[in-house]
Amino acid sequence: NIGEKADKLGFKAYIIGGVVRDLVIGFKNEDIDIVVEGDGIQFAQMLAEEFGGSVRSHEKFGTATWKTDEFCVANKSYCREGLKFDITTARREYYDYPAALPTVERSSLKEDLYRRDFTINAMAIQINDSEFGKLIDYFHGIKDINNKKIRVLYNLSFVEDPTRILRAVRFEQRFGFLMDGHTQELALNSLDKIPAVSEVRIANELKNLFQEQHPVEAIERLAALGVWDYIIGDGVASLEVLERVKELKGVIKIVTNKNVNNQDIHITSPYDNDKYRFWICYLASLFYDNDQWLERVQRFTLNNDDVEVLNHIQKLEAIWQDKIFMQTSLGVIHRELYQFRVEAIIFVLTLTSDYRQQAKTIIEYLQKRVAIPALLTGKKLKELGIKPGPIYSEILFEYECAYLNGEISNKD
Ligand code: CTP
Repeated sequence: NIGEKADKLGFKAYIIGGVVRDLVIGFKNEDIDIVVEGDGIQFAQMLAEEFGGSVRSHEKFGTATWKTDEFCVANKSYCREGLKFDITTARREYYDYPAALPTVERSSLKEDLYRRDFTINAMAIQINDSEFGKLIDYFHGIKDINNKKIRVLYNLSFVEDPTRILRAVRFEQRFGFLMDGHTQELALNSLDKIPAVSEVRIANELKNLFQEQHPVEAIERLAALGVWDYIIGDGVASLEVLERVKELKGVIKIVTNKNVNNQDIHITSPYDNDKYRFWICYLASLFYDNDQWLERVQRFTLNNDDVEVLNHIQKLEAIWQDKIFMQTSLGVIHRELYQFRVEAIIFVLTLTSDYRQQAKTIIEYLQKRVAIPALLTGKKLKELGIKPGPIYSEILFEYECAYLNGEISNKD
């Protein structure tokens, strides 16, 4: 096993951080972080030599990612394909100035743990064969888990990394914990450091936050802490905005968590993929009262899908007409709306007052649309002797319409 290899190299090795926290709390977590007191890259390479899989390393940071593959599975029956291990060398980080990216230097496990955000994330479990399973909890993470507390390890934690304020709220909401009094005071005293953080880093944290189960409560908590004043500006905590966000969450939930055609899809769970970019809709909701809301949200986009959602919202808003609510045929609605992303349709829908009464058919359409099975593939069309070209997307589209109208089922 892995621990035996660490013993061979004479390194102490530990699983660390979020995975230890989640093991203790009983949460699922498949991101395994390993820290070694020794050379992390050398350790990763040895694991790949021994068990197979691939290694990508970053010399500058002393880190490597080892990914298992089918070869590992064939060799070791207890190893699953596609597991990802982030392996780092125990390190200490310096921040040259607040909110900067850190400079890294080798250190002991204790120093590595001390630089982390919260006590619940600063525990380790040794995996060397000789001491397998030994829990290392220098900073009383277990006690804080039992008391449901989010606590920083040192007073400058939020000053050095203000995104930790958003992380604190994320863990509060995820686990039903609260910051302890001193930690909250430190967070409040560091709010003015938030504007020094790049939009990308803020956006990544907000994305993580809004993709969890309680985006509305998180937004309310951040409003109560005064965080939005430093990200968005005035007015975001207004009741109207919060109502809009609640509506958004409600429709997203109805559309995505419905069991349609026996396909259970839960695309809003924290560990799910990024197929739907609802997070950007939450952000747009918060900014929406601002005259320049679109430009302001655009600065936080993380990929082309986010940009596309915003473009679609803008286009859809301009052409949105109440007559769409009169339609009863899902196929006809699909003709009107197929070129718009589901996220944009949901967003614009919740801007329409009284939509809940009127939009039953559109919501039914969206529920079915997110669960449209791959009805007909290009491969199948080829087998039918149809020459590849634009005709393919036309045929597929007609098929979708017929499916939505119930004229064909996924067995046809
Ligand atoms: N960490 C930190 N400060 C940050 C981000 C991360 O100290 N701003 C540390 C924490 O110890 C954390 C670990 O790095 O446990 C890994 O970070 P990440 O993968 O982002 O978080 P997880 O704690 O694993 O949380 P999640 O379950 O959301 O992945």
